[in-house]
Amino acid sequence: MKFLSRKTEETQMIGFRLGNLLRPHSVVCLYGELGAGKTTFVKGIAQALGISDRDVTSASFTIIAEYDSEIPLYHIDLYRIEKNADIDETGIWDYIYSDGITVIEWAERLGEVQDDFIRVKFAIIDKEARDITIEGIDEKDWNRI
Ligand SMILES: Nc1ncnc2c1ncn2[C@@H]1O[C@H](COP(=O)(O)OP(=O)(O)OP(=O)(O)O)[C@@H](O)[C@H]1O
Ligand SMILES: [Mg+2]
Repeated sequence: MKFLSRKTEETQMIGFRLGNLLRPHSVVCLYGELGAGKTTFVKGIAQALGISDRDVTSASFTIIAEYDSEIPLYHIDLYRIEKNADIDETGIWDYIYSDGITVIEWAERLGEVQDDFIRVKFAIIDKEARDITIEGIDEKDWNRI
């Protein structure tokens, strides 16, 4: 599925819609350069889970942020991670295989991921426009909400 977001709020709204489709064990991988809108999108996912979007920030210092809600949300940012070895040491796989929902910024660092992970790719078009491609979600499910 492809979307054109023309402003920050639209990206957050698309994240909100995806958030409503997530279940325990869902893993969402976010791809795209600095400032593409990944954290903005996570704010929308958080809102859908009843978490305040203001609590969601760029996890520059913490690699993993946990948010309490009925289904816990784990927000992982791999920007500072270099090698596969480092990734395994963070313990992120314990989150990925938990009962929570895991959202991963800079998922490029993971290399190829399982087919059942949802992949969201952001491309910067200009100052305010972003192309957002979502893979791994059924369009029928998307249109039901
Ligand atoms: N259509 C848009 N969608 C998302 N963000 C937008 C859009 N237009 C402008 N912006 C701005 O771009 C920035 C996106 O920042 P955000 O932190 O979400 O990016 P990011 O992909 O998480 O970056 P990083 O890789 O540094 O974590 C924000 O300042 C936001 O206001
Ligand atoms: Mg970010």
